[in-house]
Amino acid sequence: MAEYLDSVPLSGITLIRDLMYSVKDPFRLDQGDVSFDAPDSVKAAMRKAIDDNRSHYLQTNGLPRLRELIAQKLREQNGTPVESPEEILVTNGGMHGIYAVMQALLEPGDEVIVPDPEWPPTVGHVMAARAVPVACPLYESLDWRYDLDEFERKITPRTKALYINTPNNPSGGVLTRQDLERIAAIARERNLWVFSDEAYEDMLFDGAEHISIASLPGMYERTIPIYTYSKTYAMTGLRLGYVAVKDPVIRDRAKKVIAYTTANVSSVVQYGGIGALEGGRAPIDGFVKELDVRRALFYKGLAELGGIFTGKPPKAAFYAFVKIDPAWKSSPEYKQAGKALPGHGDSISWRMAEHLITHGRIGNVPGADFGAQGEGHIRFCFARERAELSGAIESMKALFGVRV
Ligand SMILES: Cc1ncc(COP(=O)(O)O)c(C=O)c1O
Repeated sequence: MAEYLDSVPLSGITLIRDLMYSVKDPFRLDQGDVSFDAPDSVKAAMRKAIDDNRSHYLQTNGLPRLRELIAQKLREQNGTPVESPEEILVTNGGMHGIYAVMQALLEPGDEVIVPDPEWPPTVGHVMAARAVPVACPLYESLDWRYDLDEFERKITPRTKALYINTPNNPSGGVLTRQDLERIAAIARERNLWVFSDEAYEDMLFDGAEHISIASLPGMYERTIPIYTYSKTYAMTGLRLGYVAVKDPVIRDRAKKVIAYTTANVSSVVQYGGIGALEGGRAPIDGFVKELDVRRALFYKGLAELGGIFTGKPPKAAFYAFVKIDPAWKSSPEYKQAGKALPGHGDSISWRMAEHLITHGRIGNVPGADFGAQGEGHIRFCFARERAELSGAIESMKALFGVRV
C-alpha cells in the first residue's frame, strides 16, 4: 500500500487551504465549512458527557442509543427500511464512512461510476481502495444532472458500484425521483452496488426534495447510504458521520476498518450526536433559512459584477458553482497567474482561483479540481457570514473594475 499511495491524489482544496493561511484578512469562501455554531442540544450533551466522565472506550460500531436514533431517523426521514440498529456504523465523519465502506466493498480493478463534477475526495477514496473511478458528466444544461443514457453506457463488466452524490457538491444539482428510479433499475438489472452520499440532504431551497435511493423498492440491500453531521449540525471539526450496511459480510469488513483506524469514534462527540437527534430539527430549519438569505445575497452580488461569473442559484447544498467568462482568458491577469498555484497549465479555473486569492483575498476552489466537467467554473461557499460574503463581493468588484 505504501508506495501505491503516491498515486492517490490529495484534493486541490487542501492546497488552497494552505495558500489561504498566507493571506491576511481572507474571505474564506473556499472550504465547505459553515459559519454556524453547533446547536445547543449538541453542546449540552457533550458538556454532560464530559461532566459524567464519558471518556472511555466504546463499542466499535458506536453507542447503542446513537445507533438506535440513527436507525429511526433513516426509517422516518429517509424512508430507508433499516430493520435494526445493528445495521448502523458510526464513523469519524462522512470522510471516514466513505473510506470504510469502499475498503469493505471494492476489489482492485473494480470500476466505480463517479459524477463529474464531484467533491474530489470521492475519486481519492476509490483509488485508495485500488479501484478505478469512471467519470460520468453532470450537465449544467440539465441542472447538473446526468444524461442517463450516457450513464448506462459507462457500465462495463468491471463496474462494481455507482457513486451517487445528491445533492451534489460542488454543483448543488439534485437528482429527481425519476432519475433515481432509472438509476435503481440499472443497478438491479446489472447487479451493481450503490454508494449514496447524502451529505447535503438537509440543505434544500425553493422546495427542492431530497430522495434517498436506498428508500426505493429493493434498493437498500444493494445501497450503502453515507451521512455526516458536519453540514446538518455545523459539526465539521467534531467529526461524526454514519453509514447503514444491510449486508452482514460487508458490514463486518467495514467494522474492521473502523476498529483499525479509530477503535471507536470519540465518545464525547457521539453523545453530542445523541443530543442532536434528540433535540429535533429546529436548528436545522434555522440554518437552512439563513443559508437561503445568504444564497440570495451572494448571487445578487455576483450579478453586479458585469458577467465575469454566471450561473443559476443552486437548489441545494451551499455552493455557488459559477461559470467564468471565457473572455477572461485574454486578460493580462490571466497571463500573470499560474505562479502561486503552479502546475495546472492553461486551466482558466486554476488561474482564476489564484487571481481571486492573491489579489482579492477571496478563497474559492477551481472547477477543474472537481473533474473535467468543472473546468471553466469556480466554486464559492456561501455558508459564510453575510458580512464575509459582502466583503468578498466588494473585493471582486474592485478586482474586476466594476464601479462600487
Ligand atoms: C459530498 C460530500 N460528501 C462527504 C463529505 C464529508 O464530510 P465530513 O467528512 O466532514 O463528514 C463532504 C464534505 O465536504 C462532501 O462535500
